[in-house]
Amino acid sequence: MSEEIQALNERFGAPGRVNFHAGPGGLIQVAVSGTAATAAICLQGAHLTTWGRHGEPPVVWLSPDARFAPGKSIRGGVPVCWPWFGPHETEARFPAHGFARTVPWAVEAVDAGDADVTRLEFRLVGDSASRAMWPHACELRLEVAVGAALEMALVTRNTGAEPITIGQALHTYFEVSDVRNVRVEGLEDCPYLDKVEGMARKRQSGPVTFDREVDRIYLDHPADCRIVDPGHARAIRIRKSGSASTVLWNPWIEKAAHMGDLGPDGHLRMVCVESANAAGDVVRIAPGVAHRMAVRYEVEAL
Ligand code: BG6
Repeated sequence: MSEEIQALNERFGAPGRVNFHAGPGGLIQVAVSGTAATAAICLQGAHLTTWGRHGEPPVVWLSPDARFAPGKSIRGGVPVCWPWFGPHETEARFPAHGFARTVPWAVEAVDAGDADVTRLEFRLVGDSASRAMWPHACELRLEVAVGAALEMALVTRNTGAEPITIGQALHTYFEVSDVRNVRVEGLEDCPYLDKVEGMARKRQSGPVTFDREVDRIYLDHPADCRIVDPGHARAIRIRKSGSASTVLWNPWIEKAAHMGDLGPDGHLRMVCVESANAAGDVVRIAPGVAHRMAVRYEVEAL
């Protein structure tokens, strides 16, 4: 066992409940196990890769062909997109969705005192490349609570003297029985930018269903969504705060084939419903102020 893993387990581990280990690709992971659910989180990107309730199909989907490698984003789970969403506004060579999902994070705290809900907190450490792309004094933390529900909060604190503007998303891949048979409720009548049609501005009519590529930024949408999945006899409810945009994404067949890490028929098994602040909903944070974007995922029986 590496010294780093040993030190993490000595400081934050809890036998049978919270265990740090070398995961695929040698990336350090923390496995969390409680009375209701299990989860795994990679320290690179503070990337939660799975969350599932005992005896049920996972709620957060991880591609069977996900690649785990230093500096690479993992296909599935909950990538943390920050401090911009999508392509960088002016620098085409900067990575899409920012750098938070591919750089090192540190563990700040673990509270395993309650067997029903395990709480963990991570802080973005970054590297010289990320500091060059984002030369601002600020601090990013991710709080995670693993239980019968999953809660995550992304907290950005402006520690400098100038205002900062951020885009962000918790880019969650949800597991579905067959995306062709699910619907997403809660976006009715909402305006959106359709990335598949050159960012055309449209308005949602009825629930969202999937029979082609979907890549949309719903604007001015602080409300809940529900992924209704009769095949799994469940709905996943997505509650959120501090998030004005909701992004829906499924690459469908052709794009999935080009990606190469979505797995066979992967597009049928997942849908991304991302709680975000994107496009015109980016957030300006004044000096000394913290902004908190939080989500809570619950499972409802159908
Ligand atoms: C979505 C974007 O949020 O993420 C899509 O709207 C993008 O345009 C998708 O293709 C996946 O991005 P990436 O960088 O993880 O392949």
